[in-house]
Amino acid sequence: MGILTDDMRRMVEEQQLGFIATVCTDGTPNLSPKGTTAIWDDEHLVFADICSPGTIANLRQNPAVEINVVDSLSRRGYRFKGTATILQGVQLEQALAFYRKRGSASEKQHVVLVKVERAAPLISPAYGQGQSESQIKAHWRRYWHDLWNRS
Ligand SMILES: Cc1cc2nc3c(=O)[nH]c(=O)nc-3n(C[C@H](O)[C@H](O)[C@H](O)COP(=O)(O)O)c2cc1C
Repeated sequence: MGILTDDMRRMVEEQQLGFIATVCTDGTPNLSPKGTTAIWDDEHLVFADICSPGTIANLRQNPAVEINVVDSLSRRGYRFKGTATILQGVQLEQALAFYRKRGSASEKQHVVLVKVERAAPLISPAYGQGQSESQIKAHWRRYWHDLWNRS
């Protein structure tokens, strides 16, 4: 088994949205969401560049990347640190076919494969205050319901 556990795989596949951190040439951070974040295999994630020139430019200079995926209902998630490769040739064709099979029709400039070297859980401090997962979910379900139904 690789570094990605079943629960990590479940979380990424359910949420689909990852926040991708890269390093700018001046050393400052760059963070942008990618709704194409997916599991490639038990040690790699992928995401697609549809309109992310900053992320791609940074990765060309420095392949270091961190991805955070969080379930906003359970307030849990995972952080993945690793090294990115911008796919080319046969691997790029395979990745584009992978996205087509998932029904993702948007035009992709690049696909990035991330070899995960460190993976760790993210957990809200609310769990340290004695709340159970079902209590936390119930709280946020009410919150989102009220927000979305506001006129
Ligand atoms: C919910 C959400 C999902 C997004 N998914 C993607 C994506 O999968 N690929 C992409 O290239 N841009 C995606 N974007 C747009 C980029 O995050 C946005 O263009 C960003 O400014 C790119 O910044 P960068 O060039 O520094 O990476 C998404 C934006 C949002 C809000």
